[in-house]
Amino acid sequence: MSKLQVPDGLETFQPEIFAGKVLFCTGGRSGIGYRIVEMMMKHGADAVIVGRDAKGVEESAAKLEASTGRNCLGAPADVRDPEQLKRAVQAAKDKYGKLDFVVCGAAGNFLAPISGLSERAFRTVIEIDLIGTYNTVKATLPLLRETRGAYVHISATLHYRGTPWQTHLGAAKAGIDALSNALAVEEGPRGVRSNVVAPGPIGSTPGMTRLNPGGQPLENLIPLGRVGQTTDIANAVMFLFSPAASWINGSVMVVDGGDAHTRAPYVPYPEAMFNPKMMTDVLKGKL
Ligand code: COA
Repeated sequence: MSKLQVPDGLETFQPEIFAGKVLFCTGGRSGIGYRIVEMMMKHGADAVIVGRDAKGVEESAAKLEASTGRNCLGAPADVRDPEQLKRAVQAAKDKYGKLDFVVCGAAGNFLAPISGLSERAFRTVIEIDLIGTYNTVKATLPLLRETRGAYVHISATLHYRGTPWQTHLGAAKAGIDALSNALAVEEGPRGVRSNVVAPGPIGSTPGMTRLNPGGQPLENLIPLGRVGQTTDIANAVMFLFSPAASWINGSVMVVDGGDAHTRAPYVPYPEAMFNPKMMTDVLKGKL
């Protein structure tokens, strides 16, 4: 297999490995979350996708049902609102009677230097990514205890080192990693596992568009010679939910082709910090 090909999981996992299981995924309407749900459904799971855009969530759920032949419930909710999340979990319980797996995938991000970042902007990303994860865990934990289920949180690698213009996202994702570790040890004795998947640059996702607005080619900067695909992340999540990972708890699985070890900033750093026009051009994707 050439390094440009990605196995789609169907060649790797038993086709019915998740039959009878129910997945709850925040951020499942699009991008990485959508692909995780689709792959899990293609392997037998039924699903619930949660997102802010009620119409979009409905449309994605219908599309997922059509492409997989499984059931998918679209549950509109903003992860920042615990009451909306509780209603989404109740709708899941009404439809399926249980939950086995939860993916905390809802996220928001943009490039912004801290000097130009309002308190509300910082808070918004913390609330979507970190508090949203907390809210999702709180709303789903009673059901996961019943099934001895598992969590996977979608984090990042940007906080392993200082990444310029990512204070908000880095702080939120570091918090998510810490939350998952503590959850793993608190709930492990009840049979509930918690792990993190940390994606590198994944092509054709909103995150990638926002972090690399100029569309700089990244292939040659990544040790494995390509950007990731949403399928790479879905494969890792499926492994962590599979029985093969039954002793994996409190771990972070980096899925990035080795990028975190070698990554230089995608933005012209530090030049843009001292050049307002360059900064504006970068943020508009002109550089
Ligand atoms: N640079 C600096 N500040 C920004 C910004 C940017 N690019 N985008 C938004 N903000 C600020 C806003 O100005 C506002 O602060 P203010 O009131 O002090 O001006 C604050 O963030 C909240 O923005 P708002 O648009 O009201 O929030 P929202 O809840 O509608 O949107 C975002 C949340 C900003 C994260 C939005 O980008 C989003 O919804 N993204 C979802 C998709 C996504 O980011 N995917 C990538 C995942 S990695």
